[in-house]
Amino acid sequence: MSEFHMTECIRKTKEQMPLTPDEIAALVRGVTDGTVPDYQTAAWLMAVCFNGLTDAETAQLTMSMRDSGQVMHWDMLSGPVADKHSTGGVGDKTTLILAPIAAACGIYMPKMSGRGLGHTGGTIDKLESIPGLTTALAPDEFLALVKRTGCAVAMQTGNLAPADKKLYALRDVTETVNSIPLICASIMSKKLATGADHILLDVKVGSGAFMKNDTDAAELARLMREAAKADGRQCTAILTDMDRPLGRCIGNALEVREAIGVLRGDTDNALGQLCITLAAEILRMSGKGDAETCRHMAEQAVSSGAALQRFAQMIEGQHGDPRVTEDLSLLPQSGCSRVLRAEADGYISAMNSEEIGRAGVLLGAGRMTKNDTIDPGAGIVLCAERGDAVRAGDALLTMYADREQQLDEAEQKLRNAVVISEEKPAPQPLIHHVFSDMTE
Ligand code: URA
Repeated sequence: MSEFHMTECIRKTKEQMPLTPDEIAALVRGVTDGTVPDYQTAAWLMAVCFNGLTDAETAQLTMSMRDSGQVMHWDMLSGPVADKHSTGGVGDKTTLILAPIAAACGIYMPKMSGRGLGHTGGTIDKLESIPGLTTALAPDEFLALVKRTGCAVAMQTGNLAPADKKLYALRDVTETVNSIPLICASIMSKKLATGADHILLDVKVGSGAFMKNDTDAAELARLMREAAKADGRQCTAILTDMDRPLGRCIGNALEVREAIGVLRGDTDNALGQLCITLAAEILRMSGKGDAETCRHMAEQAVSSGAALQRFAQMIEGQHGDPRVTEDLSLLPQSGCSRVLRAEADGYISAMNSEEIGRAGVLLGAGRMTKNDTIDPGAGIVLCAERGDAVRAGDALLTMYADREQQLDEAEQKLRNAVVISEEKPAPQPLIHHVFSDMTE
């Protein structure tokens, strides 16, 4: 291979000339080992934001980032291994529901998850609101738990796709997060390094998501599926609505409470139905039967109590108190609460999920800076949904926080986030599109 020059890579991407696979591999090695300085990496990232990458470059970037650290293998598990990834949203607690359902149906789901980012929540923060529970599992403890219960959720280790860690930190401070090839490589390098054979991607679309419209979300889904295919994995991408929060609870312990509700059988709602759909697709990809059979299996796992039992076993295996699945009062709750009421008669025409997520952060459910501690009991419980009719004085939502001042700050944001109009809004489907081997 000829000598590597980062300036040459920047020039080529700036002039829309494709990089060779060797150049991309060397660039990723240089970013990971620190021989490429941050200012050159940042310049290249900005060139990618303006000019994009070809599909081949995106696939190569993904693979090189995957190989920058540990790549996990699950040959020791005697069954299908699946993973699910959400591109990030508000009120998204699907992993807490999906993993135990899949495990109850004979699928292994060793999940690596992250903390909340900006206005979006993270599965690790949600799980850690369960008294005693830890997500810092040693590799052998993680494996033993997955073998025993079928599912476990651990904090992503620093050695999984370390190139992404460096690139993401730079993207975050150079306004270069919002590039579809870069988002694809960031997400898929970590997913592929996690080693599952069947990958379900929940691509969020709307005001609360990275992808604001269906066209961009479909392009991201296409690129991510191509990367999975190039690595010999099966992958379905489902575009789901994030113009409204998912479910009725936003905030860590509040979301665990809602997830337990679904696992106890409360599935006749948007969150419950989405989780059944996602679980059924994981089962179908894993060879458990046709779409209808798999949906029935997922429903049965909930109605029989098997999924709830798996969740309790997983909590216990992660040193948490499994009694929370029977007694919700064991979950933390913030000391102050306030109800926000409708100021006029009408219909709820918008529930801006990004603003609701930001209000959740103000209440203490998320972080404003990396080192902030979160309040596990803080958050918002919605009393109504988009499309519902309300009368002046009706409760729209309840806020929970530790201090009255946090309620004051969040209240104004929430007033702007929930829009009441005279006209009933047109219904908006929760699932916008499914891209799978069935739809190709
Ligand atoms: N999530 C990631 O892991 N990476 C991105 O670039 C965006 C969302």
